[in-house]
Amino acid sequence: MNIAVLASGTGTNFEALCRAVKRGDIKGKIKLLVTDVKTSYVRKRAEKYNIPWIFVDPKQFKNRESFDKEIIKILKKEDVELAVLAGFMRIITPFFVRAFKNRILNIHPSLLPSFKGTDAINRAYKYGVKVTGVTVHFVDDRVDNGPIIFQKAVEIRENESVKDLEERIHRIEHNLYPKAVKLFSQGKLLVKGRKVFIHS
Ligand code: GRF
Repeated sequence: MNIAVLASGTGTNFEALCRAVKRGDIKGKIKLLVTDVKTSYVRKRAEKYNIPWIFVDPKQFKNRESFDKEIIKILKKEDVELAVLAGFMRIITPFFVRAFKNRILNIHPSLLPSFKGTDAINRAYKYGVKVTGVTVHFVDDRVDNGPIIFQKAVEIRENESVKDLEERIHRIEHNLYPKAVKLFSQGKLLVKGRKVFIHS
């Protein structure tokens, strides 16, 4: 299975996926990394794993849809079957969602539907919730909204700093995302409406 990862930032989730492929856990190939940030650190990780990366400059496109059309063109050219969003800081359009129906995954550092959008860990921490977590889900037309594959709860410890919480959440992400991609690559995820069924 050909996989593309789309990322804007430091790329720790991207690297966790690279490691899972290298270990043979995910039966697939990360064909390329797409980034919308020229200087993102994730590119360096791609180079470390010999994965081609491409920078697509949002400024070169008149709107989100034309940007997404370019991404779709790139992914189709590489015969990509699964697009994995790993800290991709752009809202993708329904056009992209339709072109890759039930073939786009996202990871979000909260228990959705709580704390959708950016800065979720910090917002949950500041809100004073006792439990937050990680969600892996299919992508649909709305932000952080699609059918949920996995969720893992994290209890916030008394006197824990937001940095410590962030570290714990990221560790869980690095474990959970490869597991979801593995199941997808094995054809074990079935989406029915808002529910995702996992076949054994
Ligand atoms: C992760 O917390 C992920 O849940 C969110 O963006 C962050 C990306 O981190 N969507 P990294 O670039 O993979 O380190």
